[in-house]
Amino acid sequence: MVKPRIVIIENNLPHRAKIKTILSPIDADYLELSDSKDCLVVLCKMRPDLVLANLKDSSQDGVGLLTLLKKDPSFSDLPVILMGHGESQGKIAAAIDSGVFAYIDATEEEENLLSAVEKLFEKSAEHPAGIRILVVDDSSSVRLMLQKGLSQEGYRVQTAENGKIALKFLHNNRFDLILSDVYMPEMNGLELCETLHGDPLYSGIPFVVMSTENDAGNMKKMMQLGAAAFIIKPFNIEQLLMTLNKIFSYEFLLLLKENERLDGEQKLLLSGITSLIKALEARDEYTRGHSERVSLILSGLVRQLGGSQREIERAQIAGRLHDIGKIGISDNVLLKPGCLSEAEFNHIKTHPTIGASIIQTIPSIADILPVIISHHERFDGNGYPQGLKGLAIPLWARMTAVADTYDALTSDRPYRKGMEHDKALAIITEVAGGQLCPDTVRLFLECCKEGMAKGFNIQK
Ligand SMILES: [Fe+2]
Repeated sequence: MVKPRIVIIENNLPHRAKIKTILSPIDADYLELSDSKDCLVVLCKMRPDLVLANLKDSSQDGVGLLTLLKKDPSFSDLPVILMGHGESQGKIAAAIDSGVFAYIDATEEEENLLSAVEKLFEKSAEHPAGIRILVVDDSSSVRLMLQKGLSQEGYRVQTAENGKIALKFLHNNRFDLILSDVYMPEMNGLELCETLHGDPLYSGIPFVVMSTENDAGNMKKMMQLGAAAFIIKPFNIEQLLMTLNKIFSYEFLLLLKENERLDGEQKLLLSGITSLIKALEARDEYTRGHSERVSLILSGLVRQLGGSQREIERAQIAGRLHDIGKIGISDNVLLKPGCLSEAEFNHIKTHPTIGASIIQTIPSIADILPVIISHHERFDGNGYPQGLKGLAIPLWARMTAVADTYDALTSDRPYRKGMEHDKALAIITEVAGGQLCPDTVRLFLECCKEGMAKGFNIQK
C-alpha cells in the first residue's frame, strides 16, 4: 500500500508537530515547509496528495497560494486544506471561492482535521480525480448520458462524434481511457482502435468498446487489437462504472501517479538543463538568447506542419538544447572574436557530438538526439559531423539548420551588425538546395508570411 503524501506549510514548529499528532492515525509521508516561498518546485518533485497550509503564511496569503495552485494545470486538482485562527467570514469565503477543500479553525482542529483528511482520502479512493475519459459515439444521447454519468462520478469527460474527431482530441490532450462505439461515420471504432494500436504514443491507453450483442465479429477483432474490455449496449451507468473500476485498478492508479511523478521530474531536469544553456550563452553576449529564438522558430515550423501539441513541445526542447555540446568547447575558441584556425574550427565542430553524448544519457529526451547531432549537416552533404546529404538528414535537424542560420544572420556580431529580416530571408532563399533543405526553407518563408496571425513573429 502506497502511503499518501502530505505537505504541511506552517511556520510554527510546535503547530506542525501538533498537526502530525492529530493525523497520526493516517499512515502518511510528510514534508514540512515553514512557508510557501518556492513551494511549486517542491510540490512538483513530491507530487503530494494533500497540502495543509496556514491561512496566514509568512510569504504569501493562504488564499494567494491556493489561487496560484488552481491556476497551474499540474496542481489544479491538488486538494488544499487551509488552517487559521478566528478568521473573518470574508476571508473564509474567499478561500472557499478559490477552491479550498476545507477550512479548519484552530479551535476545531482536534475534532475536525482528522475527519476532513480521512474524508478526502476516502473520496479520492472512490472517485479517481483527474482521470480523463474520451467518449466516442455518433449518438448525441449516448454522449450526453455518458458525459453526465461519468462526470458525476468524478471523471473528466470529453466527447467526440467519430474516430476522426477523437484522433484530433488525442493529438492535443492526454486521456487515460477511450470509450468507443463501433459503427460511426467518417472513422468507425474498429478503424480508430487499429490506428491507436499502431501508434506507440496511444497504444497504452485502455480502449473500451461499446457494442451490440450481434456485433461479435468486430468486437473480437478489437479485443485482438488490445481493447481492454467491451460493454454490451444498452447498458446503464452502473454497469459501465463496474467495468471502469476493474480497469482503473489500484495498480493502474499507481502507474498514473508514477507517470505524473516522471513528468514532474522531467520538468525539473529540463529547467536545470535550460539554466545550464543560459549560463553557457551568458559567456558570450552575441549568442545570448540564441537557443530560445531557435526554439521559437523550430516549434513554429513544427506547428506549421500540423504537429501535435506534444510534438510542438518536443521541438521547443530540441531548439533550446541544440547547442548544448558547446559546453565542451573552450572559451578561447568559442569567444574568439577573429577568424578561427583550422584546428580551432575542428574543435568547434565537435559540439554536436559532445551534445549527443550528453543527451543520450537522459532517456526521456533521447528523441531529440537527431536535432542535436545533425543540426550542422548541410543539404549538399558538406556539413558536419557525418556529412549526411539531402533527405538523409533528419527533418527536425534540417528545420533547426534554417532557424540557426536565420538567427545567426539577424544577430549582431563583434565584426558586423545583424541583418534586416528581409535581407536574411533573401540569403536563406539563395542557399536553399545548397546549404539548406529547399522544402524546409519554403516552410520557413510560409511561416514568416502567415506568422503574424499565428504568433510566429520572429522579427527582432
Ligand atoms: Fe550548433
